Amino acid sequence: MPQLFRPVANTLARASLVALVTVPIGAMFAGSALSRSSANTKVGIALEQPVPFSHQHHAMELGIDCRFCHTSVEKGPTAGIPSSDTCMMCHSQIWTDSPLLEPVRQSYATGRPIRWDTTGDVGWTKIAKVPEFVYFNHSIHVNRGISCNYCHGPIQTMPLTYKGKPFFMQWCLNCHRNPEKFLYTDPQFPQLSGREQVLHLYYKIQAGGLLSPREQALSNGTDYTPTPTELAEGRKLVAKYHIHKSSLEDCSICHH
Ligand code: HEC
Ligand code: HEC
Ligand code: HEC
Ligand code: HEC
Ligand code: HEC
Repeated sequence: MPQLFRPVANTLARASLVALVTVPIGAMFAGSALSRSSANTKVGIALEQPVPFSHQHHAMELGIDCRFCHTSVEKGPTAGIPSSDTCMMCHSQIWTDSPLLEPVRQSYATGRPIRWDTTGDVGWTKIAKVPEFVYFNHSIHVNRGISCNYCHGPIQTMPLTYKGKPFFMQWCLNCHRNPEKFLYTDPQFPQLSGREQVLHLYYKIQAGGLLSPREQALSNGTDYTPTPTELAEGRKLVAKYHIHKSSLEDCSICHH
């Protein structure tokens, strides 16, 4: 929905980029502009992993809660990646001989964590990331009821994990300018808190419950235009959460 962007932000970003190239921080930004194409175009492509971990299998079919493995997602800035201990809670008992799980068993036996941002043979390849100079915080978004799928795509259907959305600045700003278009509660369960809404939607998907068009779009990780009623509800949520729309565009919240 490119018409939602106000061109002024683009101009601002570009102007500041020009202004900043003379100072060290400018060099940092400029570097990112160069690497952006490689970092942000791998959308939809599963990257190589030490173990072919399936969210479809574990999250959807087995119904394991995201928070069981991504333990800090609603409490802190990062979501976290599980250690091999978490996998071995089950895999010391089931699928114990699977050759696919050898790296997990090795990591468990040696006490070396399965690291996810190294290039060694035991390490998860990082999929979702923003450049160093961008500050992001999971808990604040999840506690406002923003679904993981809005930002990460249809994770619960992925046999191998891929990047669902490119994290361009415009993409973040698209929501920061008009959060009322994105904030949502299940009309049948308005009493649930924001983070409960996020998980409730997964339970509903897992249970094969009837999804509204909006929920269906979230389930599929596709874009959605809210109805006037939904937009009015979104505005109420902005007020309820005391969200200051004007400050959500401040450069300093994302670029400390
Ligand atoms: C049984 C553990 C487990 C559960 C449950 C789980 N995940 Fe994961 N998740 C992982 C592991 C392991 C990785 C790293 C390997 C990969 O990318 O597939 C990962 C990676 C991810 C990534 C990509 C992270 C990155 O940048 O590399 C996202 C996003 C994600 N999970 C979201 C979710 C969501 C949303 C749910 C709930 C619907 C969920 N996960 C449930 C174990 C789990
Ligand atoms: C709550 C239990 C549970 C946890 C925790 C768990 N798994 Fe699993 N996993 C299963 C079950 C059950 C299966 C097999 C289901 C089937 O094939 O029907 C499985 C299957 C697998 C397979 C396929 C094995 C094969 O040979 O086909 C892989 C790979 C795997 N898990 C990786 C992981 C990793 C990596 C982690 C940790 C991030 C993890 N699992 C955590 C329950 C779990
Ligand atoms: C508003 C968008 C947004 C939402 C909502 C969101 N994420 Fe993320 N996620 C991101 C961004 C951006 C990154 C990259 C952060 C970085 O590089 O520092 C990320 C990174 C991750 C990672 C990689 C590890 C890490 O901690 O950086 C995992 C795993 C993950 N998210 C899981 C989840 C789960 C599970 C949920 C829902 C409970 C969720 N995310 C909700 C945007 C989001
Ligand atoms: C779907 C909507 C949505 C998307 C997409 C989104 N945000 Fe946000 N973000 C929000 C809302 C709503 C808040 C305000 C929460 C509040 O003030 O209660 C927020 C707040 C923040 C904050 C302030 C946190 C704090 O500590 O005050 C930062 C930083 C931030 N977002 C960064 C990002 C970045 C970086 C991206 C893109 C990678 C992004 N956001 C994408 C909705 C979104
Ligand atoms: C909601 C979070 C957010 C806000 C607010 C924000 N940015 Fe960004 N910015 C980002 C993200 C995310 C990237 C990285 C984009 C990428 O990797 O392609 C970025 C990248 C940049 C870059 C590098 C060049 C580029 O386009 O990739 C510059 C310069 C920049 N921002 C300047 C600004 C200025 C100036 C403001 C205030 C007008 C601002 N940003 C406000 C999230 C934000």
